[in-house]
Formats: sequence, C-alpha cells, structure tokens
Amino acid sequence: MQNLGIAMTGSGSAAPATFLDNQALTELVETSDEWITTRTGIRQRRLAKASETMTELATAASRQAIAMSGIDPQDLDLILLATSTPDDLFGSACQIQAQLGATKAVAFDLTAACSGFVFGFVTAAQYLKTGVYQNALIVAADVLSRWVDWQDRRTCILFGDGAGAVVIQANEKDCLLGFEIRSDGTQNNCLNLAYASEPAELIQGVNVGKGNFQPITMNGKEIYRFAVQKVPEVIDKALFRANLSVDQIDWLLLHQANQRILDAVAQRLNIPEHKVISNLANYGNTSAASIPLALDEAVRQSKIKTGDIIATSGFGAGLTWGAAIFQWGR
Ligand code: UT7
Repeated sequence: MQNLGIAMTGSGSAAPATFLDNQALTELVETSDEWITTRTGIRQRRLAKASETMTELATAASRQAIAMSGIDPQDLDLILLATSTPDDLFGSACQIQAQLGATKAVAFDLTAACSGFVFGFVTAAQYLKTGVYQNALIVAADVLSRWVDWQDRRTCILFGDGAGAVVIQANEKDCLLGFEIRSDGTQNNCLNLAYASEPAELIQGVNVGKGNFQPITMNGKEIYRFAVQKVPEVIDKALFRANLSVDQIDWLLLHQANQRILDAVAQRLNIPEHKVISNLANYGNTSAASIPLALDEAVRQSKIKTGDIIATSGFGAGLTWGAAIFQWGR
C-alpha cells in the first residue's frame, strides 16, 4: 500500500443563537459568576432550542468547511461525524450526507466524547493516506444541553452546544505530522452519560430492558488530574513521531474544557501563553465540537495561517485522549 499525504483545506463552525451567561445560571443553581469564571474561565455558553437539532448545527459547519476547501459536496468520499449526542441512536452522519447532497460519500458516526474530533481526524486521515479516498469531511457536533442535569452545579456550568468541521484532502506533502490516540476503560466511571435499564417483562420468564439515558455524571477532580497528566504525554509522543520539538509548535489547540487545564498543560510543555488558543469563555465545553470550533475561529481571524504547525489534543469520557500535530493548509 502506498503511503500518501493529507492536507487540511477547510474549516467551519456553527453554534445556536441562544446565549446563557453565568449570571443566568445563578437562577438555576447555587453558584456565582465569580466562581465559574475563576474555576473554569467560562463566561457564557450557547444552547440549542428544543426545535434545533445536532444535525442542523453539524450541517451548517460542514457547508462552511466545504466552501473554504473549494470542493463540491459531491467530491466527498467520506463523512465522519464525531458526536455523543446523535439525533438518532442509529447514527446521524447519513442525515448530514443527505442535507449536503454528498451522494458519493459514505457517512458514519464515531463516538469518542470530547476526544471525538482528534479520533475522527486521525481515522479519516488513514483512508486518505492509504490512497483509498481523496476527500473527507470530519464534522464534530454535540448538544450536551439535552443531557445535562440543570440542577447539578458541578456539571451544568461547564457545557455548551456547538459544531465544527474540517475538510481534509489527499496531498503530496503530508500535513498530519504525528499522532497518538489512547483509551482507558478502567476509569470509565469518572464521566458518564449512561443508559439505565429497567426490566420489562414481555411474557412470563422473558424480560428485556426498557430505560433511558441518565444525565451526565462526572468526577471533576479526577478528570482534571487525568487531563493535566495525560495530555502532555500524548503531545510529547506525537511530537516525537513528527520529529519536532515543542518550540516548533505555532499553536496549542486543546479541547476547550477549562482554562486552568489549558494553562496547566501549556505550562508543563513550556508553551508560552500567546500560543494557546482559547475561546471557551464564549462557548463553554462543547465536547467533540470544541477543537474544530476554536480552530475555525482562529483561521477566520487570520490567527492561524497556511503552514502553521498546530498541536491539538482532545480528552474526555471513555476515558479517551489523543493528540495530533498538523500543519494548516497545503
Ligand atoms: O470534557 C471533559 C469534561 N470535564 C472536565 O473537563 C472537568 C475537569 N474538571 C474541572 O474542570 C474542575 O474539576 C471543575 C470546574 C469541575 C471543578 O473545579 P474544582 O476546582 O475541582 O472544584 P471542586 O470540585 O474541588 O469544588 C470546590 C468547591 C466545593 O465546595 P467545598 O466542598 O470546598 O465546600 C464545591 O461544592 O466548590 C463547590 N462547587 C461550586 N461552588 C459554586 C462546585 N461547583 C460549584 C459551582 N458554584 N458551580
């Protein structure tokens, strides 16, 4: 099999119109703007209305990424949707395919919580690097507001809704320079959106499960510790594979979970503050969407330029975590 290159040639993002700031959260739970801002850096988040779907947000972000890359939806060979909040448990990627009119593409979902974008990017890249496909869309979207317990102040202050997308294309030069993706199911109980099954008797002696997914539960301290330890490790590993040193990174683009996590990881890696991309003050933690959403904003603000080297890392439920080092543009 040949080993070919890929380039990231387009990005897009979308968020619901409704804002909820920290002050508004004090009407729901015992908290304060000061606590949320100092402990997380988050000032507001965007929330999808009941009538808004994850698929709509994802499709809007995808259209922008496709337009920026200059390809036609019909040029897409692969659509990979990273989400933990599909509109349909059978998967939502095919609905995005239909709305885009990407008739030639194969579309499917990938679930890796807040690591979804990095896992999706690395996975899609393999199809291109082997020469099987030419053009892929990775779209990451989550509507966690549906699954947050709005009475739980330890979690409800963190999350927001959004979508981000990128297009990658087969390219002579390889702009995915190195990666490392990991998981550890033994720590699964630190962060869950779990199905709770109730027995329902069909006929005597035969019972099936009938239940519902339960709101998000999280051990914040454990996740914090895990992120600050594991993220620098995978970035180091990905840099080693890329044969690059830390000072060659132009931007550190982490999953936007908590400003303190961003600062601690940057400090451990010795990356100066001005290289750290952060937009979580405006969006909160948008799960899989957070990295491509922040990437797209930085590209459209002309912060990230062609040829810039970006170290990205996602981490979250599973537990899952991973890093990728890539160069923006061709
Ligand atoms: O995508 C991955 C998703 N998860 C994460 O990224 C979470 C990672 N963890 C974190 O970001 C932080 O652990 C949190 C922001 C969740 C919590 O910050 P912390 O500094 O670890 O706070 P804590 O849990 O140690 O709580 C400190 C105090 C506690 O009071 P006591 O026991 O010291 O009296 C909490 O009850 O703050 C209290 N507290 C709050 N107070 C006001 C917890 N949540 C709130 C709140 N408002 N919303």
